[in-house]
Amino acid sequence: MGRARSETDFGFRRVPLSDKQALVDDVFQSVAARYDLMNDLMSGGLHRAWKEALVTAVNPPKGDRPFALLDLAGGTGDVALRVADAGGPGTRVTVADINRQMLAVGRERAKAARRNIAFVEANAESLPLPDRSFDSVTIAFGIRNVPRIEAALAEAYRVLKTGGHFLCLEFSAVDVPGLDAFYDLYSFNVIPALGRVVTGDAEAYRYLVESIRRFPRPERFAQMLRDAGFRRVSFQRLTGGVVALHSGWRL
Ligand SMILES: C[S@@+](CC[C@H](N)C(=O)[O-])C[C@H]1O[C@@H](n2cnc3c(N)ncnc32)[C@H](O)[C@@H]1O
Repeated sequence: MGRARSETDFGFRRVPLSDKQALVDDVFQSVAARYDLMNDLMSGGLHRAWKEALVTAVNPPKGDRPFALLDLAGGTGDVALRVADAGGPGTRVTVADINRQMLAVGRERAKAARRNIAFVEANAESLPLPDRSFDSVTIAFGIRNVPRIEAALAEAYRVLKTGGHFLCLEFSAVDVPGLDAFYDLYSFNVIPALGRVVTGDAEAYRYLVESIRRFPRPERFAQMLRDAGFRRVSFQRLTGGVVALHSGWRL
C-alpha cells in the first residue's frame, strides 16, 4: 500500500495539500479589485472595528521610536495603512502577501494615502526576510487560507525580535444562542449572493464562508501558537465570537 497523499481542507472540499495554494490564489485574484468594498458590505463595516482592535493591540509608538511591523497576508494593505496612521514617524510597515493582484491594489492605496509602506510578494510559509527583524507581526483573516499553518507560525516567530508581539485576527465560532443560527443563514445564503453581484464570483465567497467553519476553534489555535514557541498566549472573542483576536509573544 502506498503512502496516502496528504490532504487538507479547501472550504468543505478535501484537496491535496499541494493544490490548496493555487486554489486560494484563484479566489483572491478573482476578488482583488472589489475586495475592500466586499469587506464593508459583508460585515456591515464591522471589519473596521475588528481591525481597529488589532491596531490598538499592536500599539505602535506615537513618537520617533523605531518600530517595525510586518503584516502577513496583508493583501490590499488595510491593516498596514491603519497601523501607519496610528504610529509615529518611527513606524515602518511591511506587507507580505502571496497574491500579486491584492498587492497591486495595496500599492495604489498606499500611494493615494501618501504612506511609505513596503509591499513584498511572499509566501507566509517561507518569508524572504531576516531573523528577528520585526517588533510586531500581524495577520488578519489570512491564516486560514495558508495551507501549512504551522510553517507560517514558525516563520512569524522566526522574524520577530525577542520581546516581539504576534497578533492574529481570524473568524471564529459564534457561541451566542440565536446569533449562531442567524450567522449560518447569513453566511451561507447572503454572502455568496452578495459576492456574485459585487465581484461576479459567488464561489470565491462560498469558499471564504466554508473556510471559516473549517478553521480550528480558538482554544486549539491558541495551542498551535504555544507549539510554535509563542508565550503568554491569549485570545479575545469579538462580536459574539464572529472573530477572535489571538496574541502571543516571542520571549
Ligand atoms: C481574506 S484576505 C485578508 C487580507 C487582509 N489581511 C485584510 O484583512 O483585509 C487573505 C489574504 O491572504 C493571502 N494569502 C493566502 N495564502 C497566503 C500565503 N501562503 N502567504 C501569504 N499570503 C497568503 C491572500 O492572497 C489574501 O490577500
